[in-house]
Amino acid sequence: MSSFKTIEWTDNKVVMIDQRKLPGVEIYNEYSTHKEVAEAIKSMVIRGAPAIGVAAAMGVAIGSLEYKGEDRQKMIDFLDKVCDTLAGTRPTAVNLFWAIDRMKRVIDANKDKNIEEIKNILVTEANLILREDIETCMEIGLQGSQLIIKDSSVLTHCNAGGLATGGYGTALGVIRSAIEKGKNITVISSETRPFLQGARLTAWELQKDDIPVTLVTDNMVGSLMGNGRIDSVVVGADRIAANGDVANKIGTYAVAVMAKHHNIPFYVAAPVSTIDFECSRGDRIPIEQRDISEVTHIGDTRIAADVDVINPAFDITPNGLVDAIITEKGVVKAPYNESIAKLR
Ligand code: MRU
Repeated sequence: MSSFKTIEWTDNKVVMIDQRKLPGVEIYNEYSTHKEVAEAIKSMVIRGAPAIGVAAAMGVAIGSLEYKGEDRQKMIDFLDKVCDTLAGTRPTAVNLFWAIDRMKRVIDANKDKNIEEIKNILVTEANLILREDIETCMEIGLQGSQLIIKDSSVLTHCNAGGLATGGYGTALGVIRSAIEKGKNITVISSETRPFLQGARLTAWELQKDDIPVTLVTDNMVGSLMGNGRIDSVVVGADRIAANGDVANKIGTYAVAVMAKHHNIPFYVAAPVSTIDFECSRGDRIPIEQRDISEVTHIGDTRIAADVDVINPAFDITPNGLVDAIITEKGVVKAPYNESIAKLR
C-alpha cells in the first residue's frame, strides 16, 4: 500500500489529499457537500479514473447527509440531482459513471427504507467501493507482476498509482507487486505535459514509497527506447472500449506507437469497471478538452505565445498497439472483442 491516503471518509466528511499542491505540499482537504466534492473532481484535487469513481460515490453519500427534510421521495429526487452534478464533472473516465450508477442502484433497491437507513446504506456503499478498489488493484498487481521481467526498467506515463486509485494503483500496482515479489524494478516516469502528473505525482509517490524512479520529459521516451533503456511499458486507462481501444492520458498513444516500433511490450492495467462494454470502439469515447491555460502556463507563468491552443486531456491507443490488458479478473489479449466480453 502507499504511505498516504488518497481519499477517506472521516466524521461524515470526505477527506482528499490535494493533488494540485503536490509535490510541494502534502495537505488534506475536507469536504462536506456534494457540490464541493464535484468541484474537487473538476479542479483535479482528485484525479485518476478509479479515484474519481470513489470520490463520486462519496459525493452521493455526502449528498444524502445534506438532505435534512423528512420526505423520502423528496430526498430521492434531491439525490437524483446530486448524481447529475457529479456526473457533469469529467466526461472521459468511465469509473465516474460506473460508481454513480452503482449508487443509484443502491438508492433504488432501498427506496422503501426510512431516511436514516438510506443515508447509512449509502455511506456504507461508498466506503465499500473504496475498499473494493484497493483489493481490486492488489489483484491487478498480482496478475500483472507475472508479465514484468525480473531485473528491468518499466516506463509509465501519467499517474496510475495510489494517488489515482484508493491507494495501491493499477499500473503502479503492477510495479509494486513485482517489487514485493523480489523483482528489481526501476521505473521511468514521463513527465506528462501539460498537467505534469508524471513529474509531480508519480515521481513523488514512488520516491515516498522507496521505489527507484527516474523522471524524463515526454520527448525523451523514443530515444530511451532506442537505446535499450526501457524493457516494458505499463499504463492505466480512463476507459477501455469493448474492442480493446484504450483512452488514457494524452501522450499514451505516442508511447504505444514508439513501443511497437522498438518491439517493447505495451501493457494497460485497469479494473473491469474501466471497461465500457457498451462502447464498441475508441473513437466513440468522449475526450475531455481542458482549459488552454494548462498548456500556455506553468503555474502562474505564461510560457507560450498568444496563439491558438488545444488541450485534449486524453487520447486513444488502438487495440493493435496493446499487448495485454491486465485486470483483476485476469490478463486478456487480442482478439479483444472476444477476450473482453468474457470479463463481463
Ligand atoms: O486527467 P487525469 O489525471 O485524471 O488522468 C489520469 C489518467 O489518465 C490515468 O492514467 C488513468 O486515469 C488511470 S488511473 C489508475
